Amino acid sequence: MARVSSVHTGGKTIEGFFPATAMPDSDWWGALWPEPSQVVAKLGIEPGLDVVDLGCGDGLFTVALAHVARRVLAIDIDPRMLDLARARVSAAGVTNCAFVEGDAYEIATLVPWRADLVLIANTFHGVPDKERLARGVAAILKPNGWFVVVNWHRRPREETPVLGQPRGPKTDMRMEPEDVAAAVEQSGLRLARVVELPPYHYGAILANSGT
Ligand SMILES: C[S@@+](CC[C@H](N)C(=O)[O-])C[C@H]1O[C@@H](n2cnc3c(N)ncnc32)[C@H](O)[C@@H]1O
Repeated sequence: MARVSSVHTGGKTIEGFFPATAMPDSDWWGALWPEPSQVVAKLGIEPGLDVVDLGCGDGLFTVALAHVARRVLAIDIDPRMLDLARARVSAAGVTNCAFVEGDAYEIATLVPWRADLVLIANTFHGVPDKERLARGVAAILKPNGWFVVVNWHRRPREETPVLGQPRGPKTDMRMEPEDVAAAVEQSGLRLARVVELPPYHYGAILANSGT
């Protein structure tokens, strides 16, 4: 049975918050991801797509997605993150982005259209019931749509320093692309391609085989 989790942040408790997925401090996060637009390009995100940024955090990737996609729906369970993401998107001058507060498990009720692509970056490692999440994602993907999981490689935490400190999830929470593929198998999503995102990450690109 998957654990029920919560986090106490900003003076309130958020039920359903995935373990070990708090937004990192922007100093080292910005140093690790200096070019989010290049990441988006490497992941094959093309103009004209309808995209969901699941667990958008402070909007680092949301802006890069919005520069390319037809429209972006950014979802996060933490309203403070959505405020930061909104401000970042607004400062970038992009207008094709909407924001929804909610639990990623409920993606099928949060997204009012079918998506070409759902991106979950730096969050999947902490999802207690990965199959449940994948089923929700598959339900809102268009036929031949994509679920893109950006994760830390399964390297020991002490071997993934940024700005002189070990960073990222605990070693035993980390997954390789084949672990992601196995976790979502029952939802009909299939690993199609892996993109390396040095120094420590990969993008697992999963194809929706459903209709
Ligand atoms: C580590 S941050 C990653 C943010 C962004 N994707 C990035 O890579 O910069 C994980 C995000 O997931 C959000 N989150 C945690 N549990 C969630 C849930 N159950 N549903 C939706 N978002 C969640 C957190 O609030 C946080 O903003």
